[in-house]
Amino acid sequence: MSSATVSRVLSASKFVSGALAERVWAAVRELDYRPNQVARNLRARATSTIGVVIPDIQNPFFTSLVRGIEDALQAQKFTLLLANSDGDSARERVCLDTLCAEEVAGLLVVPCNAEPGAYDHLVKQGVPVVAVDRSPTGLNVDVVGVTNEEGARAAVLHLAGLGWDRIALVGGPLSTNVAVEREQGYRRALDDAGLPSSASLVERADFREEGGYQAMVNLLRVTPRPTAVFVANNLMAMGALRAISDAGLRVPDDIALVLFDDIPWGARVNPPLTAVVQPTYDLGVSAARILLDRILEPHRPVRRVALQTTLIVRASCGAGLPGRTRPDS
Ligand code: RIB
Repeated sequence: MSSATVSRVLSASKFVSGALAERVWAAVRELDYRPNQVARNLRARATSTIGVVIPDIQNPFFTSLVRGIEDALQAQKFTLLLANSDGDSARERVCLDTLCAEEVAGLLVVPCNAEPGAYDHLVKQGVPVVAVDRSPTGLNVDVVGVTNEEGARAAVLHLAGLGWDRIALVGGPLSTNVAVEREQGYRRALDDAGLPSSASLVERADFREEGGYQAMVNLLRVTPRPTAVFVANNLMAMGALRAISDAGLRVPDDIALVLFDDIPWGARVNPPLTAVVQPTYDLGVSAARILLDRILEPHRPVRRVALQTTLIVRASCGAGLPGRTRPDS
């Protein structure tokens, strides 16, 4: 009789027939065998599977992020179980509970719940957790993100340096630290450039395309119209571009545009898009490696890593437009 059969019987698996199960229990009684629960837990814990939870499986940003995670895990013979929270806290909790029930060795989470304590249950269960891209409020876990505020500030300073003096923002949901940090970078840049900030030039949406579209429609109704716009992520920028086009306007001649998150086709659209580039693949690799370190050394100090963003200048910001100088200069 195989050890697998015995294990199935002892773990009350329903896949073993009555007669066979009775033979196993007779042997257990005769040998006075007592399963070692600690050893079984250690074996269970030593699973080579990692749970990954992302907020939008259709966003190319997360595709690239998960690819980096998977390559780093595969290199260490780990596999991943991927779940999509769709940016919904209740759905995210179901994803996390399901992955924990699968006894994954650890979790990589792009958290969508900003409520303090939203993830405490994971820490209490002793599940190794690393927050990727976004950091949860008040949870003392490893975090791997990017320099959001610096990246946004560089983008808006670049627009100001080109002479655009009414720079609008399509910001993300302030329930995420990344949106808060990017908006802080936008405001710091306006201050540094001596440009006025106005509530009428700030719209916020949900990091999705339709939200970016509507936000841009609202901004185009402002008079005088903004001369440039900084959009806080890729999908909202797609919506903003569609709104600008639907209004019969052109980028950058009528309004310059810079987005946070380069997109795979950003160099090939017309005009090519100026973007704050996140090292997305490397973000995934770093997060996976930090989690594997955490699994091996559960009590090592918590790390908070911020990878550098870079600004890639293409035509959408108006660089190279003839005679582009600030109107009052
Ligand atoms: O496009 C999705 C956005 O949400 C990205 O900017 C990424 O940083 C994530 O937080």
